Amino acid sequence: MNEPRAAYPSPLSIPSATLHDYVRAIWEQAGSAPREAELVADHLVAANLTGHDSHGVGMIPRYVASLRDNELKLNLHAQVARDAGAVLSIDGGKGFGQVVAYEAMEHGIERAKRLGICAVGLRGAHHIGRIGHWAEQCARAGLVSFHFVNVAGDPLVAPFGGTDRRIGTNPFCAAFPRSGKPPLVLDFATSAVAFGKVRVAYNQGKQVPPGALIDHDGQATLEPKAMIEAPFGSLLPFGGHKGFGLAAMCEIFGGALSGGYTTHAETLGTNHAIVNCMLSVIINPAAFDAPNAEAEADAFVEWVKASPLAAGTESIQAPGEPERAMRARREAQGVPVDPATWRQIGDAALAVGMPAEQVDRWSQHLQ
Ligand SMILES: NC(=O)c1ccc[n+]([C@@H]2O[C@H](COP(=O)([O-])OP(=O)(O)OC[C@H]3O[C@@H](n4cnc5c(N)ncnc54)[C@H](O)[C@@H]3O)[C@@H](O)[C@H]2O)c1
Repeated sequence: MNEPRAAYPSPLSIPSATLHDYVRAIWEQAGSAPREAELVADHLVAANLTGHDSHGVGMIPRYVASLRDNELKLNLHAQVARDAGAVLSIDGGKGFGQVVAYEAMEHGIERAKRLGICAVGLRGAHHIGRIGHWAEQCARAGLVSFHFVNVAGDPLVAPFGGTDRRIGTNPFCAAFPRSGKPPLVLDFATSAVAFGKVRVAYNQGKQVPPGALIDHDGQATLEPKAMIEAPFGSLLPFGGHKGFGLAAMCEIFGGALSGGYTTHAETLGTNHAIVNCMLSVIINPAAFDAPNAEAEADAFVEWVKASPLAAGTESIQAPGEPERAMRARREAQGVPVDPATWRQIGDAALAVGMPAEQVDRWSQHLQ
């Protein structure tokens, strides 16, 4: 096992293909089969490209810690635990979420194409990252999908009216594919901000927006350290009782209906694992008697975009548009990675046994 280093050169921004190669090399070094390393790299780099750095390559140190806890299991595949036709229960076995969620969606896509609809309950996956990635996989196959996810046993969010952490950041996601156009993709944490964005703010020495955090006394705070340094505070749900309600349904559909588990006193995590359970409902739009569905969706989008702009707003964007614009920018200009995150990734590479000269070579290569 190699020791952490004091510092690595910190690139301003990294070409996404180079970052992808580095991530693949780290996981192959850790013992992943080439296809697994590739799926993990695809997912993490795509999260960065879409602007969700909270779910990008900055997750690698946490995954390595989970691997060392013997929680994240390499080279596992999605296991169909129950096949009821249009309802599939799939066990993730704490395999890489980037692999088992991909495989669970492939099963669901095949069924939804054949049967019109498929509900996939995926339980016990290690972190499945940016949920929009899975909705986009369904959309590429021409399918509508919605996804309810819990972060099982990892409470970070206070319930509406409460003052301590009881719920995960439970994301909700929905996507609508369009032929010859990008899909509409709504994808967000039900906390006012995603935890990873608090981690990024902490690493960058920035504050978080108002209304996102309370400290351990239940008082509003802008300081990300309330989530990183003890005594711990809590994130707040977005949109008051509505966000709390959606988070609760994500917990129950994702955690309970999938055959996984919800967050409560008996299930609190004690290690570095992040366990996600997800209920995905995947629908073939062609199965509806709705030949105008796409035209109606487009007419609606055009209609809302024609609203006179509020002061300080540059444009009205449909769900998924900000991510697409960011992707185009970062594909051209590279992915920015802050120095603290970069150092943590280098240390993680050393921790899985990548030789120091190789880590240095990557770092220099990226300058
Ligand atoms: N796996 C997990 O356990 C887990 C937990 C929480 C969050 N997440 C992921 O974290 C990511 C980030 O979540 P978040 O809550 O920070 O997302 P966010 O607050 O950036 O919201 C993103 C959504 O809002 C839309 N959007 C953003 N700005 C917009 C604008 N100006 N106009 C119109 N639409 C706009 C985006 O297209 C997207 O659908 C998500 O991809 C989510 O899946 C994962």
